[in-house]
Amino acid sequence: MTEETSTYRREGLYTPFGPPIGYYRLADGDVEKLNGCLHARLEDNSQNLVGKVDQELAFDRAALEVAGRAVGKCLIDFKRRVTTRPVPKGSVVTPAKYDISIKSGWFVRQFAGNYNPLHVHANCQFSCVGYLKMPEGIAEEWVEDAKDHAPAHGQIHFTWGMSYPGLRSSFMVRPEVGDFFVFPNNLHHCVYPFSSPGERRSFSMNVDLAESDRGGTIYLPD
Ligand SMILES: [Fe+2]
Repeated sequence: MTEETSTYRREGLYTPFGPPIGYYRLADGDVEKLNGCLHARLEDNSQNLVGKVDQELAFDRAALEVAGRAVGKCLIDFKRRVTTRPVPKGSVVTPAKYDISIKSGWFVRQFAGNYNPLHVHANCQFSCVGYLKMPEGIAEEWVEDAKDHAPAHGQIHFTWGMSYPGLRSSFMVRPEVGDFFVFPNNLHHCVYPFSSPGERRSFSMNVDLAESDRGGTIYLPD
């Protein structure tokens, strides 16, 4: 692990700029289970997405259930942290309980030369991305890429607002398998191409969270 990438390894809420980004780690068993949900009968979802990638496959019910169980706690933790962020003084916030409504979910299978143009996610409160596979050789590619200016290969790039002196307006990540990020639906992001052979596989879901008495119920799309 390089010094540069070590800064986001603790789970929790990150606010590199205005909107918060939640960072979590998927359990190894959940990465395996989610990879096991990718099969040849999944439907193409590329018409609903902007990616210039080989395959974008819609989650079936089994994948939605597995993903919901795998990341439900992270999504609720994110919502609770977002709504109880400390303020300098005066505001008392009581953490609430939340149910999760998964609106959609899909796998992104990105290979050498593929990329995902800048976009936001519509019709949801939050979106998320979890990493299930990275191409062999990507670590070496990153080392090479960093020797040039503005390294970007295979990275996800979140960007917000305008650049001001002393303030950050973008945030880039070299993902590792098991990394999981949650963010507001309207946060612009893109993914840059890489050249290593092999697959960069991620999954995303669009979700809503609503207060409830008990909390923790996961609703799937019809
Ligand atoms: Fe996206």
